[in-house]
Amino acid sequence: MMNREDKKEEIYNLTELLCKYSRQYYRDGRPEVSDSEYDRLYERLLRLEKENPELRLSYSPTNRVMDGEVAEGEEVEHSILVLSLDKAYSLGEIGDFIRRVKKISDKNNEISVEEKIDGLSAVIYYRNGVFYKAVSRGNGRVGSDISASVKTIKSVPLKLSVNIDIAVRGEIYLDHESFKKINSTLEEPYSNARNLAAGLIKRQNMNQVAGTGLNVFIYEGFSDDLKCDNHKDMLKNLYDLGFRINPHIDFINQDDEEKLRQIIERKTNERKTLDYDIDGLVIKVNDFSIREELGYTEHHPRWAIAYKFESPLAQSVIQKIEIQVGRTGRITPVAFFNKTFLLGSYIESASLHNRDYIEGLEIAIGDLVSFSKRGDVIPQIENVVEKNEIGNTTFKFPTHCPVCNSVLSDVGRNVYCLNQFCNARLIAEAIFFASKDAMDIDGIGQQTVRDLFELGLMKDYTDLYFIDYDKDLYGKRDYKEKKIKIIKDGLEKSKKKPFSSTLVALQIPELGKRTAEMLIENGLDSVEKFISMTKDANFDTIKNISGIGEKIINNIKSCFTNETFLKRLSRLREAGLKFEKDEEDSFMISNELAGQVWCVTGSIAGYKNPEAALDEVKKRGARIVSGVSSKTTHLLVGSKPGSKLEKAIANNKTIIVNEKDYPLYWQGGKKE
Ligand code: IVH
Repeated sequence: MMNREDKKEEIYNLTELLCKYSRQYYRDGRPEVSDSEYDRLYERLLRLEKENPELRLSYSPTNRVMDGEVAEGEEVEHSILVLSLDKAYSLGEIGDFIRRVKKISDKNNEISVEEKIDGLSAVIYYRNGVFYKAVSRGNGRVGSDISASVKTIKSVPLKLSVNIDIAVRGEIYLDHESFKKINSTLEEPYSNARNLAAGLIKRQNMNQVAGTGLNVFIYEGFSDDLKCDNHKDMLKNLYDLGFRINPHIDFINQDDEEKLRQIIERKTNERKTLDYDIDGLVIKVNDFSIREELGYTEHHPRWAIAYKFESPLAQSVIQKIEIQVGRTGRITPVAFFNKTFLLGSYIESASLHNRDYIEGLEIAIGDLVSFSKRGDVIPQIENVVEKNEIGNTTFKFPTHCPVCNSVLSDVGRNVYCLNQFCNARLIAEAIFFASKDAMDIDGIGQQTVRDLFELGLMKDYTDLYFIDYDKDLYGKRDYKEKKIKIIKDGLEKSKKKPFSSTLVALQIPELGKRTAEMLIENGLDSVEKFISMTKDANFDTIKNISGIGEKIINNIKSCFTNETFLKRLSRLREAGLKFEKDEEDSFMISNELAGQVWCVTGSIAGYKNPEAALDEVKKRGARIVSGVSSKTTHLLVGSKPGSKLEKAIANNKTIIVNEKDYPLYWQGGKKE
């Protein structure tokens, strides 16, 4: 039988040994023992610790993944200065930096050139050689506690080789392979590895953080217990303490411009072959006494500069962050900044997507941010360039709906207001209902919907058909005869819209235009059929349609059993919307030519009259007119054309379609 002292000793020895092996494996990639030997020792330690939980050491390798939900994110004040770097975008600007350094000290000096890892900046604090806390950079003064997540990263030592107090700065990142692997399993993939890494770090269940491939490179150390004169020695010391250091560092003479140019060129090319993202290089003065002489500005050390591979995107300061509530109740924070020009247009707002995104980039009001246009269209904040100086901390995601004050709920990565009667949701639903994608009601745009809600004339979208516009809207705001007539005509016209429009307008989650058309084609061509299908709980018709999944079935089920939904349904029936597919609907094949305006002149072979020829495009959503005007997009020309042809040629905008080419315009292939 082992006595308690023996057990204590064995636990200590095993813990130390496993720390050493894991350092070799995760820091150096060079294990001294086989995986199975490691596992055997690990299992033994786990068993001993289970039997004697009071003997488990805080830095035990079995202690990396915490159970249950960990509430991270608590604000923590840094005990070191967490500064960012000044930037250079050319060799010339690096030259300026070196000249500034030489002004202070013209000793012939060494500089380091290291990779600027594009990840998340973190500070890890150790007390007496043991992991104490990991904190995100935050605004440089206060960051959030990310200890539990950082502890799951196996290259982060839980105990150092020497029992000292130290703070280290490093970059947490996700390698490309892990990024691709995880991203492919996500419904909403991340646009880059850094944003996904940020999302992972913020997760609360550590089982979902451990083993994801997060890793770290440490690049600076701060400790009174370490006596180093320069960066090279510091990195060597940090390595000996157990930290993972990026091996791709060059030390060169600060006057060796040619060497620097070569390194930049090499790195710019090598960048594509690395298995992690770098967005530039960091150039640092090696000698600490010179670093001290150079000192700091308010935000940057004067002894280092970041060389960025790409020239800056547009930049602007966030003025405010607004919370928007969508029609599904999804909460989207939107950042507003001063109008800034980028790629041909002015931008003044960008979606901040969700909580992970804000916390990952640590975005706060007053921060200077850089943004791009994704796909050249949608503005996207890429990075915080400069933290605000007014002490604003990372924007706090609301816990309550800003419109109806209900408690918000987390659903996956997003946050929702689940109150069906939230005014913001009702307005957004009504806007969608009247939009081009649904009932396409002329005269009812976003502003009209808002006016009708504000004037107390409607409470949900079905009210649109029951308002007495002449009596209740006439004369209010700027609603006069003309506007009211457009609205009333628009509503009448919408009653003739095909059943597929009604189905989309009902806003069953995930049931968009394509799905609606598929369901109708497969025989679900009336509201009645949806009702009886739900009543009989027999969804076989849908199950057999490829491309339509379980989710839609569940959504149909919950809508057709929801009291409010059924009430709206009966009001729309009363209003006279199409509740089933009829002959007129079958005339329409698609809407692919919506927006085109066609006219015809002369006679067209194969059709009993010229107008009949235009049915081909009409069936596909084009509008037909009898005379050519500047709005006519296409003129079909047959034999013996009339004066319409001259008119079309004269107005220069109308595409003249020869009858021979006509089929190409509606049979696919050439469209314009
Ligand atoms: S040194 C005082 N070295 O780039 C020391 N930073 O603004 C300042 N970064 O926040 C940082 N790789 O997150 C340094 N090798 C490296 C780095 C690096 C990435 C990040 C770091 C910092 C930002 C610069």
